[in-house]
Amino acid sequence: DAVERGEYRHYMLKEIHEQPQAVADTLEGRIAGGHVLTQMLGVDAEALLARTDSVQIVACGTSYHAGLVAGYWIESFAGVPCKVEIASEYRYRNPVVRAGTLFLGISQSGETADTLAALKMAKGRDYVARMAVCNVPESSIVRESELVLMTRAGPEIGVASTKAFTTQLVALALFALELARAKGLDAARYADGVRQLEQLPGLIAQTLKLDGQIRALAENFAAKQHALFLGRGTHWPVAMEGALKLKEISYIHAEAYAAGELKHGPLALVDKDMPVIAVAPNDHLIDKLKSNLEEVRARGGELYAFVDETVAHGLDADHVLTLPACGEFAAPVVFTLPLQLLAYHVAVLRGTDVDQPRNLAKSVTVE
Ligand code: G6P
Repeated sequence: DAVERGEYRHYMLKEIHEQPQAVADTLEGRIAGGHVLTQMLGVDAEALLARTDSVQIVACGTSYHAGLVAGYWIESFAGVPCKVEIASEYRYRNPVVRAGTLFLGISQSGETADTLAALKMAKGRDYVARMAVCNVPESSIVRESELVLMTRAGPEIGVASTKAFTTQLVALALFALELARAKGLDAARYADGVRQLEQLPGLIAQTLKLDGQIRALAENFAAKQHALFLGRGTHWPVAMEGALKLKEISYIHAEAYAAGELKHGPLALVDKDMPVIAVAPNDHLIDKLKSNLEEVRARGGELYAFVDETVAHGLDADHVLTLPACGEFAAPVVFTLPLQLLAYHVAVLRGTDVDQPRNLAKSVTVE
């Protein structure tokens, strides 16, 4: 194989552990003196961002989840309306394009048929420009786009995406910050966002040390049929990504819900056989999330809470995994890591083909 697995049993595990470096590489040369360098997007970026007053994100699979997180950031930090859509839906409807909208396609491979088709369809529309966040430099999606922001994850072999996702989040955070700056975001908030990104490689390395604890938790999942992932805000798509990882490689049916929606359906499924994984960093929604989780406990659900050290106390769960505390840009990256490791260890215990799960392909180049 051109890319070696080295000491690792699977490519997926290797790629999970490459994330401190992959994220550092994605940040490399893009921040200087506490500022994101707008030129990272291309020479015309400054003028194009000035003209952008809404964003349409289109992607598939894991890349779609990165887009959903970015949608929260773009609206809350930049104050710019943002829609996020699955490419296979977007390409077959007749979207209304408001003047001043930037099209943003996200793709690890740059070859996904639906995302590429959506990008091509966008060409004839009234978009400010078409931008790609992508991991493969010479790919079709990169060649088709006017603005490009590369993730620098390096080759990803495991079908279940890991380092491509976290580097997408980093690239999208850089973009959201730059858009926010173009729209006059206050300097202190901007500086804090940049600082969070600079600290990420270290935080990731620190979080990956929890591997042993996560492997122990995974034992409880090996015989389960179903799992429910809960989060709120940006951690709802992170929960979606955790559920996707588990179902892709362990073949356990997993669903993710916005925790506030629990009472509108999934609570009926909760019993002692249903593990519930809560993604619970200490953000502005933590108290709301805690009360959602009490509903799970009251129904006898087995609760796994992934919290940061500032909420470790005061949360009643069967199993608590404590992660480092971090800000709003860093947390979705950091909280993704234990979800990747959980899926990995459960899949190993179940003896599935971790790197090449049945029926799935790394890149879906046909419809
Ligand atoms: C396939 C892969 C996923 C990936 C999705 C989108 O389903 O198995 O891991 O997220 O395609 O791929 P892209 O290359 O466009 O990000």
